[in-house]
Amino acid sequence: MRFKDKVAFITGGGRGIGETYARALAAEGAAVVLAEIDLPAAQAVAAAIAGTGARAMAVECDVADETSVDAAVARTVESLGGVDILINNAAKHLMEYAGKPTELPRAKWRLMLDVNVIGIVNCAAACRPSMRERGGGVIINQSSIAGFDPTTPYGISKLAVRGLVAALARELAPDGIRVYGIAPGPVDSPSAMADLPPALLEQFINRHQLIKRQGRMTDLVGAMLFFCSPEASFITGETLMIGGGYPLRV
Ligand SMILES: NC(=O)c1ccc[n+]([C@@H]2O[C@H](COP(=O)([O-])OP(=O)(O)OC[C@H]3O[C@@H](n4cnc5c(N)ncnc54)[C@H](O)[C@@H]3O)[C@@H](O)[C@H]2O)c1
Repeated sequence: MRFKDKVAFITGGGRGIGETYARALAAEGAAVVLAEIDLPAAQAVAAAIAGTGARAMAVECDVADETSVDAAVARTVESLGGVDILINNAAKHLMEYAGKPTELPRAKWRLMLDVNVIGIVNCAAACRPSMRERGGGVIINQSSIAGFDPTTPYGISKLAVRGLVAALARELAPDGIRVYGIAPGPVDSPSAMADLPPALLEQFINRHQLIKRQGRMTDLVGAMLFFCSPEASFITGETLMIGGGYPLRV
């Protein structure tokens, strides 16, 4: 129960990786808030987590909309007393955003950047006062290995997410807030599995990963819990790749 008495605000917590993170934090004692544009999905996850005896709450939230984020964080503070952990997980990530930069309609480019990049700024700004009041906090931004090979609109957004890890780490350190990035390779969230052509995934694993198996959402959980814990208290501003050894860096 490492996170007993902590409150975690998880964007896009209604399915996939966000849901996986929420269940793991709840199992360690945190009260979890599923902040979702898809409220029924968040409500279903909150009910399932509450069924295990943990505290869970669903709030409607569009991360791209500052007013919506402010209202969702205000509801969280009102109901649960504050925010200690923010996980910026919601994003637009399907193959549609992995093509050529000039071929993505500009309106889609803008919306993707609003969600994937400005959404993080909105949530960090909204959670900061409560974290400061509680003596500090942790922010985790969900990047991607695509942010290390940024040749697509999606990759460019995830490169910007890495930049925001460093920028927010610097800005928020005086408030005791630590900031991290997690950059996964392809993992088995239902949305990714439905979207990625199986042949492409297999080729990626065989050609690029050193560890030749499909990544799993659960492969990300250990790093997430570590970053949220006091064991990471002298680390901030770092993005960790979790991609079976791809891409190799020195
Ligand atoms: N699945 C992968 O293989 C993979 C790999 C690398 C990085 N990632 C990143 O991990 C994160 C989660 O991925 P996933 O596969 O679980 O995604 P997903 O699409 O399964 O879930 C994302 C959730 O975010 C919600 N959401 C979308 N827009 C929102 C908004 N504007 N405001 C609030 N909620 C919103 C959706 O309703 C959905 O429930 C994303 O940031 C993604 O880019 C995923």
